[in-house]
Amino acid sequence: DKYVIGIDLGGTKISGAVANFKGDVVSQYTLPTKAEEGEKAVLERIITVVEEVIKESNVDKEKIVSIGIGSPGPLDAKEGKIITTPNLPFKNFNIVKPLVDKFHIPTYLDNDANVAAIGEYVFGAGKGTNNMVFITVSTGIGGGAILNGKIYRGNTCNALEIGHMTLEKKGPRCNCGNYGCAEALASGTAIAKAARKQVEKGLSTSLSSYEKITAYEVFKEAEKGDKLAKNILNEALNYLGICVANIITSFDPEMVIIGGGVSKGGDIVFEKVNEVVKTRCFKAMWESTKIVPAALGTDAGVKGAVALAIMESK
Ligand code: BGC
Ligand code: NA
Ligand code: ZN
Repeated sequence: DKYVIGIDLGGTKISGAVANFKGDVVSQYTLPTKAEEGEKAVLERIITVVEEVIKESNVDKEKIVSIGIGSPGPLDAKEGKIITTPNLPFKNFNIVKPLVDKFHIPTYLDNDANVAAIGEYVFGAGKGTNNMVFITVSTGIGGGAILNGKIYRGNTCNALEIGHMTLEKKGPRCNCGNYGCAEALASGTAIAKAARKQVEKGLSTSLSSYEKITAYEVFKEAEKGDKLAKNILNEALNYLGICVANIITSFDPEMVIIGGGVSKGGDIVFEKVNEVVKTRCFKAMWESTKIVPAALGTDAGVKGAVALAIMESK
């Protein structure tokens, strides 16, 4: 009986799990990321998560054959580094080598959305498909593609950095430095930002009762019928729809899986995305593509990292 470790390095937390080769999680451990404390402190916390999750699993360290890590990119996968990442203050953050030096376990770093795509393909909504694309929409927007049953990494492991596809040449500034990226128009952060901007203008809306508006609150007020909240969502989801349409046109997948906080908006999200896709894709293509919510939910990150580790040790 062999085991793996999956680590999800996110903006707010570092989650780790020990799992067997069927993906059954035997222990889990989480610490806050606190990225503002710098790379050294974050690396120490990653190491602590690995140590604690092994301890709590009661599994002999010798039985753990690999570690998979999912992280926002862009990455230098060959060097095992995060080059930079739009929503976290890292620069050439070397992760893999220090972990190998410390634990002597083969360690694999991959993009968080790639890892979640692998997780959905092996354990989630994409089970049984051959060609699928996963999209995460939360603080950032990311993507991962399974093509002919295999993760497609591209030349530098940064394929499907779809959050930074330009959708508007003069659109809002993105945290990557560019303008009009999908992420600056359709992410949870973009929805919240757009709402704050409208409220500051003094427009009449129930959103003005919130001190700091979040995307979740925009969804909540839109559901209750607030017109401004509905308009903001409609605009953002239109861009998300364009993003999904471009992906369907590029990859002709069987399935597009949407995860991340914004996907929890439910019907309003999937209805709008489907509507846009129908107007922008060839009929033969949208008709044959299912657009579905992620099945792994909040565990997508760790479960995906577990799936990556299993895949790399087979
Ligand atoms: C990053 C991607 C990541 C996505 C979701 C984007 O800002 O560029 O690498 O997959 O956020 O975390
Ligand atoms: Na990706
Ligand atoms: Zn960008």
